[in-house]
Amino acid sequence: MILKIKFVEASFVTDSINTLNINNIIMAFQFIKVTPQVETHIALIELNRPKELNALNRELMLEIRDALRELDEDDNVRVVILTGGERVFAAGADIKQMANATAIDMFNVDQFSTWDQIKKTKKPIIAAVSGFALGGGCELTLTCDMIMASETAKFGQPEIKIGTMPGAGGTQRLTRAVGKAMAMELVLTGKFINAEEALNMGLINRIVPVELLLTETLGLAREIAKQSPVAIKLAKEAVNQAFNSTLDEGLMFERKNFYLTFASEDQKEGMAAFIEKRTPTFTGK
Ligand code: CAA
Repeated sequence: MILKIKFVEASFVTDSINTLNINNIIMAFQFIKVTPQVETHIALIELNRPKELNALNRELMLEIRDALRELDEDDNVRVVILTGGERVFAAGADIKQMANATAIDMFNVDQFSTWDQIKKTKKPIIAAVSGFALGGGCELTLTCDMIMASETAKFGQPEIKIGTMPGAGGTQRLTRAVGKAMAMELVLTGKFINAEEALNMGLINRIVPVELLLTETLGLAREIAKQSPVAIKLAKEAVNQAFNSTLDEGLMFERKNFYLTFASEDQKEGMAAFIEKRTPTFTGK
């Protein structure tokens, strides 16, 4: 359940650890935990349905949507980390919630439309994956911009084993990430792959020990958070454009975004700092 009470002071916040104030909006989350500043400029979203292996029910996805929307508007946040914790990332969409649904129920609820906010988020999102990332869980990592995995991570699209198929990007993003042959094998057999195999396929950025997953992910987030937030958003947008356009269209898109960075104070600061042999201070202006 999500409570949103606009313009309420932080002192009204209850002692629930899941209640917080982002941009003067008090939000209460039942299925995720959100820390807007786990470190300067870095926000952390933790999936929080441990008994159900973080199965992605509709409510949880609505909470992710709302949290990302607010974090994307929060000038203090430059990078978002999404994790399920050390044991499991997410075992997929909530099978029990949809088992008896009709096609029209699925169409009317249109639960995957909530995922569009993840795609629309301008700031980089890094998935930190330990344990199972299956079905919708795997698709959730693919919707993020980078994937850090622990040695225990296991990825897969097992929907075929329960008489259905991926519905939140598994046939599209996975194919773009690992190519047709491996995507076909994963989607048609439902088999799981381990972190090593995922790395070899180019699905993930790197593998780290479980106990260092958050530390190493924070390290990557820190590297990004110290760059110009404007340039980061424009660069992320341009990389994503590569999946939606011809090469010529993509190159033109990239060129325009490159030119657009010259409208920012950060570009002036970055180049001046280089010439003056000092460290730049980027403000996102
Ligand atoms: N939905 C709902 N509940 C789930 C779940 C899911 N996707 N995955 C696990 N759970 C629940 C189990 O039912 C169980 O609950 P109970 O204790 O009440 O029985 C609890 O989480 C623990 O699970 P297991 O006992 O099964 O744990 P395990 O360690 O033996 O097995 C597993 C782990 C291999 C991940 C196994 O749970 C599993 O296969 N889960 C389903 C994976 C799957 O098929 N995911 C795809 C879902 S469909 C989808 O995602 C569509 C899409 O494209 C978005």
